[in-house]
Amino acid sequence: MRTSFTIAAFTLAASSAAQEAVDCKIVEFPVSVTASNEVFGSSFDPESVSSIDQFLSQGLSTGAVDVVGEASTTANFSISAQYCAPAGATHPESLPIQLLAHGNTCDRTVWDALSNSDLQASGYSYQRFFASQGYATLAIDLPGHGKSTLPDPNTIIQMAIEAAVIDAIAASLRSTSNPLGVSFSKIVFTGHSYGSITGVAAARFAPDFVDAIVLTGWSAFVPLPSPLLQLQMQPAALLFDRFKGYPLGYITASNETGHEESFYGGAYDHTIPKISFDTQDVMTCGEGGSLGVGLQPATGFTGKVFAITGSEDILFCNPKNGACADQLANSSFLFPNATSFQSQVIDNTGHDFMLHFSSTETFAKIQQFLVNNV
Ligand SMILES: *[C@@H]1O[C@H](CO)[C@@H](O)[C@H](O)[C@H]1NC(C)=O
Ligand SMILES: *[C@@H]1O[C@H](CO)[C@@H](O)[C@H](O)[C@H]1NC(C)=O
Ligand SMILES: *[C@@H]1O[C@H](CO)[C@@H](O)[C@H](O)[C@H]1NC(C)=O
Ligand SMILES: *[C@@H]1O[C@H](CO)[C@@H](O)[C@H](O)[C@H]1NC(C)=O
Repeated sequence: MRTSFTIAAFTLAASSAAQEAVDCKIVEFPVSVTASNEVFGSSFDPESVSSIDQFLSQGLSTGAVDVVGEASTTANFSISAQYCAPAGATHPESLPIQLLAHGNTCDRTVWDALSNSDLQASGYSYQRFFASQGYATLAIDLPGHGKSTLPDPNTIIQMAIEAAVIDAIAASLRSTSNPLGVSFSKIVFTGHSYGSITGVAAARFAPDFVDAIVLTGWSAFVPLPSPLLQLQMQPAALLFDRFKGYPLGYITASNETGHEESFYGGAYDHTIPKISFDTQDVMTCGEGGSLGVGLQPATGFTGKVFAITGSEDILFCNPKNGACADQLANSSFLFPNATSFQSQVIDNTGHDFMLHFSSTETFAKIQQFLVNNV
């Protein structure tokens, strides 16, 4: 008892010291967007648990669901985000800002050590690392995630409209008419996993949305059947009290072992997967059924791209698809007109790279990319 109290007090002190130089705040971006979302066939019944189960197992096994067309879809969202910058920074716009988009069954906290002060103090916060190096970051909750608007998970929360949200927020960062009141001249999009795939779609729809793109936990090669089957996803409202009231099309992992096996690999603190499982967010059926939107070339994008993924990332560097370094390098086909496409494998690291022992080393590699290229 006494020992654990002492350790807790010590960690708290260490964490406030580590955070001293960083200011983070929650901001809300009102966004109004229109996108061409997919229309799923009538075999999918969003009110039926067994139909949802069938939709997911088909999508994750074959990579395709029954899409019968597209529908122009307009929505207004309140997008919640955490902005971090060096404490007291008077000119946060003097360095590039990164717009951060999380992956699935996650929210923006994956970029801030799961909002856990012990993990922040141990170097797992992407946002706090970059603020300590002088950079501003904006980690958004994609619509349907975290504290952002939670509309219909099947017809509204799909990749096309999420890409449009990213384009709208990136555009707002170029002027002072955003909740930060600061205009940034250099904007970098940094995605993780589903957020990276969505970033490719955002670049396809609005090639000038940012100056450079960093794609983490990503490649163009997704293995089938997907290892995500081991998450055994089910309607979140039926699994955990904190999701009570969510429509059934909001799904999440039911299997903690599957969560660890999907998102971790190589060298990591084995107490972390339980923390990320206990704080996991959701995914939607609409997101699962619209993945193809981000697997087509962003031909108009002419900036620079950096792809960086863990060697043990079974979701995007699966040995089934060849050597990890080749999978990353060959992903350049999605950016045929980029000024440059660089890629890097992070040794001994799984999918949620920011929650592995290599975190600081990876953050520093991304910083080096920014220093040399943006
Ligand atoms: C979005 O907000 C605008 C302005 O308040 C409103 O006119 C419009 O009807 C809203 N659109 C949707 C789809 O809710
Ligand atoms: C959870 O997943 C693991 C491995 O992915 C599997 O061995 C186990 O049987 C699953 N648990 C349940 C309750 O299905
Ligand atoms: C980009 O590349 C594609 C094919 O590689 C080409 O057809 C297209 O004209 C290029 N330029 C733009 C601006 O899309
Ligand atoms: C990558 O491309 C090279 C050259 O086209 C090819 O030989 C290799 O098999 C590809 N590897 C993967 C993993 O796609």
